[in-house]
Amino acid sequence: MTAVGIDGLEIWAGKLELDLPEVFAPAQGDDPGKYTKGLGLHASSFPDTYEDIVTMGANAALRLMRRKDVAPDEIGRIDVATESAFDKSKPVSTYVAGCLEQVLDGDFRHANKGERKFACISGTQALDDAYNWVRAGRHRGKRALVVATDTALYARDDAGEATQGAGAVAMLIGEDPDLVSFTQAQGFGSMDETDFLKPQQQFPSVDGQRSVQVYLARMREAVEDYESQAGDVHPEDFAYAPFHTPFPGMVRKAALLGFRHVSRDTEYEDRVAEEIGRQPRREEFDDLEGFRAALKDYTDALAETDVYQDWYARTVEPTLELSRYCGNWYTGSVHVARASGLLQAAEAGQDLTGERLLVGSYGSGAQAEIHHETIQPGWEENIRALNVKDQFRDRYDLTYEEYERIHDAHNHEKETDTDELATPDEEFVFDGWGRMGERKYRYV
Ligand code: CAA
Repeated sequence: MTAVGIDGLEIWAGKLELDLPEVFAPAQGDDPGKYTKGLGLHASSFPDTYEDIVTMGANAALRLMRRKDVAPDEIGRIDVATESAFDKSKPVSTYVAGCLEQVLDGDFRHANKGERKFACISGTQALDDAYNWVRAGRHRGKRALVVATDTALYARDDAGEATQGAGAVAMLIGEDPDLVSFTQAQGFGSMDETDFLKPQQQFPSVDGQRSVQVYLARMREAVEDYESQAGDVHPEDFAYAPFHTPFPGMVRKAALLGFRHVSRDTEYEDRVAEEIGRQPRREEFDDLEGFRAALKDYTDALAETDVYQDWYARTVEPTLELSRYCGNWYTGSVHVARASGLLQAAEAGQDLTGERLLVGSYGSGAQAEIHHETIQPGWEENIRALNVKDQFRDRYDLTYEEYERIHDAHNHEKETDTDELATPDEEFVFDGWGRMGERKYRYV
């Protein structure tokens, strides 16, 4: 069967940067360690006044289509995944297509366009839709363009303000992919939850501490569901485990629980047993409380072992590197994590062809999904073409006062007249409003 998967991806970061330990923490009266050590974040990327989900998504897509030499009429569907949409009827994908048609030859007249919504997991759902479309043979030899784009801003003084970010990831999905291929096995953990939502409002209502627990619970169910399809996961099955990364500290929590689960009854459990004992089993305890207390002690001790720390440093840490410097991109976050792991491997000269990734996506509300991907020949060239680190380096560094103005400029409820801080160059920019309230864009 012909492989189907991601043929290439591109990343576009918001052009402003907020330094969290140096600029944000002192203004909030926080210890910088809360950001760098606790949350695992050093900086957030922010959108300038001329940037939004359309400009960032179209800029990422344009770079991708040019690099992969794909013409508009070779694209059979465009799906935009976002939780920052500004229109309840007209999908963001039509705006993105309109932008691309300004500069590329041809048009997307025969592409099926849509918008995907389920908080941060919808980027992965759009990949699923594209995969199913190709597998069903309805693609007529064409590829799908999936764009995950968000301005992940929280209300001022919300605890989530520490984890903000803005950026887009564009991906091409088709046959014989150059980056990773998908498989049929996948697992879901999905329940009606009230952890994070935006009921007709721009900034989210968040129960932050609860959202962390819901992430862990749904992710656990998704792993178990995945194992029921693909068999038990072993710690050595995957080169990397890119997970949805609202902040790296969240993945650190999930990774420890995940490792405890997948190392049970393996040589990994044997290797740490001399130091910390074996994992407590439910049947060894009369009461649930005693079992839970023993499990917590074991997990705390596991985190300190060399065996766990080596595995974490190899399999998880590389996937968090980019996120530390850009914050949460909601729908794009897990795709940034995938790129981050592969980028680290390419820089270290590792050959990953044929190896696997265990990908964990999550959307509040809430749903987790687990699947694996196989790294394809061509991955290294694809990943080396990314200029994301240059983008991060070239961002305009915000002062706290500028941050406050930029946050206001992106607050739909406030009228502000804020000048741009970075200079747009060969990119799409927001260009004001049309007569029906539509947003207009131009390429500069
Ligand atoms: N040195 C070292 N560590 C420090 C520290 C210091 N000086 N000060 C604090 N810390 C640690 C804390 O111990 C904590 O770590 P642990 O959880 O491991 O104990 C960490 O830094 C954060 O500190 P707090 O818990 O006190 O921070 P907070 O309560 O202000 O906010 C948050 C944390 C709830 C995650 C908040 O940022 C938030 O609401 N974020 C948005 C919601 C979110 O991202 N949820 C994640 C799951 S939901 C999801 O994934 C979907 C999505 O994308 C939104």
